Amino acid sequence: MRKLRVLVLMDEELMPPDDLSGFSEEEVLNWKAEYDVVVTLGELDQHVLQLGVSNDLGVIRNALLEFKPHIAFNMLEEFHGVAIYDQHVASYLELMRQPYTGCNPRGLMLAHDKALCKKLLTFHRIRTPDFIVFPRGRVVRRPRRLEFPLLVKSVSEEASFGITKDSLVYDDESLIERVSFVHDEVETDALVEEYIEGRELYVGVMGNRRLRTFPTWEMLFKNIPDDIPNIATARVKWDPTYQKKLGIVTQAAKDLPEGADEKIAKLCKRVYRVLCLSGYARMDLRMKDDGAVYVLEANPNPNIAYGEDFAESAETVGISYSQLIQKIIYAGMKYQPEWRA
Ligand SMILES: Nc1ncnc2c1ncn2[C@@H]1O[C@H](COP(=O)(O)OP(=O)(O)O)[C@@H](O)[C@H]1O
Ligand SMILES: [Mg+2]
Repeated sequence: MRKLRVLVLMDEELMPPDDLSGFSEEEVLNWKAEYDVVVTLGELDQHVLQLGVSNDLGVIRNALLEFKPHIAFNMLEEFHGVAIYDQHVASYLELMRQPYTGCNPRGLMLAHDKALCKKLLTFHRIRTPDFIVFPRGRVVRRPRRLEFPLLVKSVSEEASFGITKDSLVYDDESLIERVSFVHDEVETDALVEEYIEGRELYVGVMGNRRLRTFPTWEMLFKNIPDDIPNIATARVKWDPTYQKKLGIVTQAAKDLPEGADEKIAKLCKRVYRVLCLSGYARMDLRMKDDGAVYVLEANPNPNIAYGEDFAESAETVGISYSQLIQKIIYAGMKYQPEWRA
């Protein structure tokens, strides 16, 4: 790879240390992706500048003017602590005519509004769980078409923030309680969905115009007690001890129905296009026993830590982690925003 000036934009609080010694597995998880990307860019002999960002566009502007990066490696997931503001940072980079990695602002905006995203998918006849949004400050009245059990989550948060086993509700009383929880504790509107019992699948997608998908990945819950639903709660995703206890593993999905692999890949590319995504993304899906696949959400700029689902699934088709990082950079350099047209 030719030597590039790479500006790695990351959350000020997630700036990784130089090495991992002295940190617990749980601590490392917080900034593992940032660490892995920086280390890999170093191994690729790139000219790297790490920039911590929290609430000041000025620091980005200065870095762009002084460092003149060939590419901004965008690892920001929030601004002012607000998750959906990441799209504005991508917009700012575009207004500064700065090539960047990952998704464009429009795709970020569409995908992060889970309800809007589901409306778009429904228009295109792509299966997604039936739903209703309960905005903050409004009474919760369940429409009769939505039958229990229902899953209650945030309309815009990520990383299973606010998702616990209590997110699955079986009656109106607990529905109202859980919606209040999302309003008060997660501090967003609540999305209430038909619960899809089934296999939990993830699919990596990369590209701008020509897309490629990685093999369908699955989260297995090997030792989960019967009274706990098999959903990817925040604990399941982020607590290594709990993961061991429940026997959580992710791996290439085995024994899918015949033809499902190709169908899923096609479906994920359609979703990617419908939501105007670019760069790279991971689709979260559930498959019912009858083989019907539902799109839960699309994640532009997903976790790219080494060993996480996206990178692992790429590796099984011969894309090493370092090649993956290079591909992400090339996709960013090739993306054609308006100012280049
Ligand atoms: N409608 C649903 N049916 C079944 N499980 C769901 C549903 N919605 C969410 N989940 C479970 O919760 C997890 C997190 O939900 P998701 O919509 O992907 O939000 P996040 O952005 O927090 O990842 C999913 O991976 C899945 O295990
Ligand atoms: Mg998800």
